[in-house]
Amino acid sequence: MSAMVETLLSRQSVKFVQSPGPTGAQLDLILQAAMRAPDHGAVRPWRFALAQGADVPALVDVAVRVGLAEGKPLPEHKVANARMWLSKVPLVILLACRPDPNGRIRPEESRLSVATAVMNMLNAAHALGLHGFWSTGLGTYLDGMGEALGFDPLDEQFMGYLAIGTPIDAPRAPQRPDYRDFVREWHRDPAEA
Ligand SMILES: Cc1cc2nc3c(=O)[nH]c(=O)nc-3n(C[C@H](O)[C@H](O)[C@H](O)COP(=O)(O)O)c2cc1C
Repeated sequence: MSAMVETLLSRQSVKFVQSPGPTGAQLDLILQAAMRAPDHGAVRPWRFALAQGADVPALVDVAVRVGLAEGKPLPEHKVANARMWLSKVPLVILLACRPDPNGRIRPEESRLSVATAVMNMLNAAHALGLHGFWSTGLGTYLDGMGEALGFDPLDEQFMGYLAIGTPIDAPRAPQRPDYRDFVREWHRDPAEA
């Protein structure tokens, strides 16, 4: 098996990570991998912000503040869990999408492009010996969350958090589904041949 495919097949998400996070050079490679995402119409819809070190736990305070301001306070146990999670995470990439301003390319295609960029980052992190986890918890879908994190409220849609670091506990390989349960063959209709 090629080393590349082996890397793809051995990737798994790990939520609870700690330092070391990526070095500057590794982060550079991870972000370069994002720029290789498929992108219909060369919209370049990817918008990221990097939160590192002491800025990471502060993300919880932002979500709490926005939730309260919108009359949708985050449940206490979720806040406590998020504080525990982010207390050790060395790097969070804040994810957003800026769809085609001309409307040529459907906004959902831009979101798909951001999702594939995230996948590339997860795979690049894994190839570099790190682990990541994409979360759309912590107030992601509150109306004002993106703006509170510095994204343009009109043009940029917040898509969650990508945490990257080193697993706190050794990850156990997850059971993966058999692709045959999800794949069928398609044949042309003989009547149309
Ligand atoms: C868009 C998106 C949002 C996600 N948000 C959450 C989340 O908020 N909480 C969570 O527990 N898992 C979330 N997940 C799932 C994890 O990131 C991860 O994919 C899952 O635990 C399975 O791990 P695997 O990537 O090793 O298959 C999300 C996944 C995606 C694609």
